[in-house]
Amino acid sequence: MTARTHTIAIERAAQSKLAATDLNNLQFGRTFTDHMLVATYDEGAWQDVKIQPYGALAMSPSISALHYGQAVFEGMKAYKNAAGEALLFRPHANHARINQSAARLCMPPIPDEVFIDGLLELVRLDADWIPTRAGSALYLRPIYFASDESVGLRPSERYTFAVIACPVNSYYAEPVKLTVTRDYVRAFAGGTGAAKAAGNYAASLLADREAKARGFDNVLWLDGKEQRYIEECGTMNVFFTIDDVVVTPKLSGSILPGITRDSIIKLLPTLGVKVEERTIAIDELAAAFRAGQLQEAFGAGTAATIAQIASIQFDDLTIALPPVADRPYSSVLATVLSEIKTGCRADEFGWMVRV
Ligand code: COI
Repeated sequence: MTARTHTIAIERAAQSKLAATDLNNLQFGRTFTDHMLVATYDEGAWQDVKIQPYGALAMSPSISALHYGQAVFEGMKAYKNAAGEALLFRPHANHARINQSAARLCMPPIPDEVFIDGLLELVRLDADWIPTRAGSALYLRPIYFASDESVGLRPSERYTFAVIACPVNSYYAEPVKLTVTRDYVRAFAGGTGAAKAAGNYAASLLADREAKARGFDNVLWLDGKEQRYIEECGTMNVFFTIDDVVVTPKLSGSILPGITRDSIIKLLPTLGVKVEERTIAIDELAAAFRAGQLQEAFGAGTAATIAQIASIQFDDLTIALPPVADRPYSSVLATVLSEIKTGCRADEFGWMVRV
């Protein structure tokens, strides 16, 4: 880690909310810890890096993030090992990705001593909030947005970076039902689909709402040009097992490069399972289903972890996946990943960072 050049000022909450919080009964993203990290970028430099009690940020209605959407974010998780030590999963990967997202939106990079040191300090302070029940974690949400007070369209000169933290369980409690939409696209080549840009999520909401009204949990997005190749779900990347090979759409420039996705691609060969990153046409998936070759389908994301897919609606076809108990690889994979994150299994890739 680079030497710290920013002193992180800490203002502690007068009273912790932890004793009044039921960590066994959590709604995703609704419970926030006692503290948050806030830093500002102004006049070409990062300044005022501080940890303060979680609460409202004062801002002007003219800040450019609200008008032109210069806003990106991250999702990452902290866990505890059996000795009670707090561990972060691949924070350097999230750091690299937020800077890639920022570059796409014309925002300056966040240095190590703000992103990594700030996160470590925040998790250290709120470590008692890390839940330890199976499937739970402390979800960290770094947000980064333009805070120039100006309605002129140009890259902002002032930015705010903040990290808030929520104790959570898995995002999906049950296997999810997906539907393919032909009415909307999430992203297209040359756009911002590969960035974790707030606007990508806003653009997905209408399709998501319509899917939910029809009884589905989420949309499976196809590519924006031909509406033929499977991309992702919006909340997670997707994987399919066809004839004992686990396949996932290769990064096309309009798919989020998921860190859980990358971890799975690295882990599967160590478990003796063949994995391929390639284009997958929705018709190929339908054909594999009809031929009885489609063994499993699952989503992968920080919030979702490994989320089993129950079915995929595609035009008139319902691709119904086998019962979770009959799926060959995803349950083992979920167990192995969770064991690495909680320090119960050797961390061969050096993914865990002790707080
Ligand atoms: C995450 O998995 O961390 C995300 O940011 C996805 C979001 C829809 C919860």
